[in-house]
Amino acid sequence: MSDHRQVLDEVRRGMIPAHIYNDAEVFELEKGRLFRRAWMFVAHESEIPQDGDYVVRRLLNDSFIIARDSKGDVRAMFNMCLHRGMQVCRAEMGNASNFRCPYHGWSYRNDGRLTGLPFHQEAYGGEAGFQRRGQTLLPAPNLASYNGMIFISLDPQAPPLEEFLGDFRFYLDFYTKQSRSGLEVRGPQRWRIKANWKIGVENFAGDMYHTPHTHASVVDIGLFREPKAQKRKDGATYWATCGGGTTYKLPPGTFEERMRYVGYPDEMIDRIRNVWSPEHLRVVGDDGFMISAASCFPNMSLVHNWPKIQDSDDVLPFISIRTWQPISENETEVYSWFAVDAAAPEQFKKDSYKAYLMCFGSTGMFEQDDVENWVSLTNTAAGSMARQLLLNSRMGLLADDTPVVNALPPEQFHGPGTAQVGYNENNQRAILRMWADHLQMPPVAAAAAAMGTQLNGITPLVQTNGTSECEAAFKEAQA
Ligand code: FES
Ligand SMILES: [Fe+2]
Repeated sequence: MSDHRQVLDEVRRGMIPAHIYNDAEVFELEKGRLFRRAWMFVAHESEIPQDGDYVVRRLLNDSFIIARDSKGDVRAMFNMCLHRGMQVCRAEMGNASNFRCPYHGWSYRNDGRLTGLPFHQEAYGGEAGFQRRGQTLLPAPNLASYNGMIFISLDPQAPPLEEFLGDFRFYLDFYTKQSRSGLEVRGPQRWRIKANWKIGVENFAGDMYHTPHTHASVVDIGLFREPKAQKRKDGATYWATCGGGTTYKLPPGTFEERMRYVGYPDEMIDRIRNVWSPEHLRVVGDDGFMISAASCFPNMSLVHNWPKIQDSDDVLPFISIRTWQPISENETEVYSWFAVDAAAPEQFKKDSYKAYLMCFGSTGMFEQDDVENWVSLTNTAAGSMARQLLLNSRMGLLADDTPVVNALPPEQFHGPGTAQVGYNENNQRAILRMWADHLQMPPVAAAAAAMGTQLNGITPLVQTNGTSECEAAFKEAQA
């Protein structure tokens, strides 16, 4: 990417140089400038409800242990031993009071503190020769959560998570706040696809246009209540701060009727009513839009859909959260979680899980249809001809950059940000504009290297809105 300014400028006007979907040089820039900076979703607090619970998650090349320590604080620790660099924790999830390194046996408390060195006296001269106190596994430079969703940023100077998410928090609430008990998640299912990571992010952010065509067979078998191809164009897309998504237009009715229409039982609707803001209720109840897929920059996506799960006309909603972890410029690891309100009835949880697996698990019908396109796109983007092609990503814009369809006025769309009805690529362009802005920033300066003690030792989780409530609920449930 010798002249990357020009590439970024093309991207900003919605003409996408095709090679950015399979280019090693672009991927290097993404690693140093984008993924070193952005807030990235790594886990949900409900995955580690008990003290000592942990999960191990990879962010590009870095492995982190996300643990609830023995005092109940959530931590993210770089999973590399302070001695010779072995990966300290090799299991993917579990419960432990200590992590012992497999190489020479140094051990760490579940808050990261170094506690045990075999032959400390003989090999190091004891505390006088090498003080264990103050040595910890390196904490993630920044850690915070929103509605129980744990995010990491590798940039010590990152803005607060709340500021980064901005108005997109409003839309996250639809998926992650359906009662005071918060979410519980299952998974993640994890698999790799030979596709560039950006393609899925863009697709979930705003591609309502592919549904009738790519997913024609899913429409054919009558999995959805609205089989009409044009159904998606009646929906609105919205964009707010760092993310955007798609919605379906609901038939006329009250808030309750519309929630029932997508399959929520009355007791869940009552709880939802108590935790959503008046504006959330109005987006559904007055404006008649139900959130569907969305993406949050850089690599998290969400889905909410309501397929039929048996041979009747009843539909059932499910929620899924996923991240697109880049492995290389042409390979992505997908992490996909099923999410459900912790207070939902047991039968609903079961059925909703089934709905999720049918559509968006690793073998889900949508998943299979989508990935075929993305692998092909990625392959084709590697060739020499792709270097001469600008992909047209200007849907929704006239030649003079004015919109084909005007934005919805506030009285027709009560969510923050901008929204408009119909097919467009506004969100895909917005995501790629953020991508271009990041690639133009200077690389993040590396913090000075030191052994285990930088960043003032141990940083526990910074909690933003909603977390303490969820945590209280988990603690209550445990008691
Ligand atoms: S590398 Fe971990 S104890 Fe030596
Ligand atoms: Fe799709």
